[in-house]
Amino acid sequence: MHSFQKITSDIVELNPFEKIGKDWMLVTAGNEEKVNTMTASWGAIGQMWGKNAVFIVIRQSRYTKEFIDKEGRFSLSFLNEKSRNLMKFLGAVSGRDVDKIKEAGVEIGYYDGVPIVDQANFILICRVMSTTLLKPEDFIDKNIDETWYRDKDYHTLYIAEVTDIIAR
Ligand SMILES: Cc1cc2nc3c(=O)[nH]c(=O)nc-3n(C[C@H](O)[C@H](O)[C@H](O)COP(=O)(O)O)c2cc1C
Repeated sequence: MHSFQKITSDIVELNPFEKIGKDWMLVTAGNEEKVNTMTASWGAIGQMWGKNAVFIVIRQSRYTKEFIDKEGRFSLSFLNEKSRNLMKFLGAVSGRDVDKIKEAGVEIGYYDGVPIVDQANFILICRVMSTTLLKPEDFIDKNIDETWYRDKDYHTLYIAEVTDIIAR
């Protein structure tokens, strides 16, 4: 288990376009008994309701969604390029079908009761503030529905407070 240090947001230097869209992240949720994690590359980091916040979108079919909804907390773990294949695997297989954490050799640690991926070098600990199911009638750009939701597996938008930032 690596040792992570708590840091403050004023010293964080990151490009959110690259960090989320290109590097990807692992969304991890659960408790000491059962945990799930999945790869995500859509989302945002910023401010909401006076707090440092993240915005992530999770489709209804994702097993990880059940864990986030049950616990109300999750982590976003950022890994380096060496873990690209690991992230591909965690983003292709569902924890519903396979014990993918075990199979991929992911080491889970806990920070303030929230599961984190030990292989990460930068982690955001998050507390859900709101959930919104994205519905086709709300899309102003009418291409969105047919481009991204042919299977009607719509995303829920989670807006979550970043309660802690840890790094090593
Ligand atoms: C690069 C990449 C990015 C992804 N981004 C998202 C995302 O932002 N939201 C989402 O719901 N699924 C996303 N996925 C798909 C999930 O990671 C994938 O369906 C995963 O198997 C779900 O696992 P689970 O059922 O164990 O939760 C992404 C997959 C990859 C490979």
